[in-house]
Amino acid sequence: MPKSKTVVITGAGGFIGGHLAAHFLSAGHKVVAADIKPLDEWYQVHRKAQNHAGPVKGDCRDFKVCRAICRGADEVYQLAADMGGMGFIENNKALCMLSVLTNTHMILAAQEAGVDRFFYASSACVYNADKQKNPNITALKEADAYPGLPEDGYGWEKLFSERMCRHFREDFGLNTRVARFHNVYGPEGTWEGGREKAPAAICRKVIAAVVSGKHEIEIWGDGTQTRSFMYIDDCVKGINLITHSNILEPINLGSSELVSINQLVDIAEEIGGVKLQRRYKLDAPKGVAGRNSDNTKIQQYLNWEPSTTLRAGMERTYRWIYEQFTAKYTAKTAHKSSISTFTKGSHPIPGDGFNPESKFMETWTQGIPAGYGSAGGATGRKRAGKAVGAKRGKAPAKRKAGRR
Ligand code: NAD
Ligand code: GDD
Repeated sequence: MPKSKTVVITGAGGFIGGHLAAHFLSAGHKVVAADIKPLDEWYQVHRKAQNHAGPVKGDCRDFKVCRAICRGADEVYQLAADMGGMGFIENNKALCMLSVLTNTHMILAAQEAGVDRFFYASSACVYNADKQKNPNITALKEADAYPGLPEDGYGWEKLFSERMCRHFREDFGLNTRVARFHNVYGPEGTWEGGREKAPAAICRKVIAAVVSGKHEIEIWGDGTQTRSFMYIDDCVKGINLITHSNILEPINLGSSELVSINQLVDIAEEIGGVKLQRRYKLDAPKGVAGRNSDNTKIQQYLNWEPSTTLRAGMERTYRWIYEQFTAKYTAKTAHKSSISTFTKGSHPIPGDGFNPESKFMETWTQGIPAGYGSAGGATGRKRAGKAVGAKRGKAPAKRKAGRR
């Protein structure tokens, strides 16, 4: 990218956006950063950036905000999304779908501003669920997104927005680029509260055990499910490379180092210097049984792929979370770190972002509500209606509590 471009980053108060802003600033570019969260909740605040924070100036669901931040921009990086790990996306499908407003308004504003590039952060959650039923999965190649059977809620929204990028490129000539991130981890990201993903959650749980001296850990599922995890530095490098490449179709951006969740726990234990008694919570949100990134295409196009080893990345992540944890909790209060602040209205409940009382836990699988279409549709529809109504009544408090 030539010197001194104006770069817009949405979701800049979040994990990846904060790192991306740091990268572009250090490369000498002007950064316009936006996030719905107030500035004091951003993971990284870059004083050299032009920061648009909070629900009035930073909410990218609002077209006026999108227009204001895109004016004069050369490149737009659309990272804003209401998202999290499995504990969040399985329990908040409507909120995940609402990110369609952010994506739609940002792409429209970018088109109107005539930007050179529009980057969209998609996800491995777009891949067909039938291809992820086995922990010993064949790595997912780009074509495996179709026929469409993505992660319910979050994955459908990502797949829709990917296609919007394609059609804006084909019909309006907007230079869109799309990467499908596979589980990204590292310092300066969510590590508690319910939105955290497995690497941060496992680090936090091991640290809680170390700090409290209570040598046990709760693991969601039976620990045999597999994933690949990409370190943040590789993610930032990949975003930059893909945006400035001629890769027009959505492409995997992920590590191909496949591990089971048990192996992830082994690594965190080794870093923490402990061995913990493992308890498996089989009814917690698990997502797919296995997922890995096939990096054939990215290698072909860029002669590069994410290469930070999980051991090295987890070491840095663990150290950062340890600092956050010990600044906030003591041996006596360590157990409070597993409280989720969004799953049950505004009232925090123990359980790591997992709401065991949710009716949806039993009735929903990969998009198909059990009992849907049964006599009178009673099981699926009636239950769903009740739960949605109950949530709606508490919406404002819940949204506030859900923000970090
Ligand atoms: P994050 O939650 O840390 O950051 C997202 C940010 O978007 C948050 O700070 C949030 O406040 C902000 N946001 C939400 N709604 C907004 C709105 N209406 N207007 C402005 N800002 C809003 O998540 P992240 O890990 O940094 O993810 C960044 C992007 O990458 C997201 O689009 C996400 O779906 C995608 N992604 C991330 C991963 C991962 O493992 N981290 C994997 C796949 C895809
Ligand atoms: N979050 C979390 N917390 N997951 C746990 C825990 C825990 O304490 N213990 C075990 N797990 C298991 C989950 O049950 C799941 O099987 C696996 O670890 C991975 O969980 P997550 O990291 O939460 O999510 P994911 O890999 O299924 O999906 C994530 O990555 C996608 C991209 O690859 C999500 O962050 C998606 O939003 C993202 O798009």
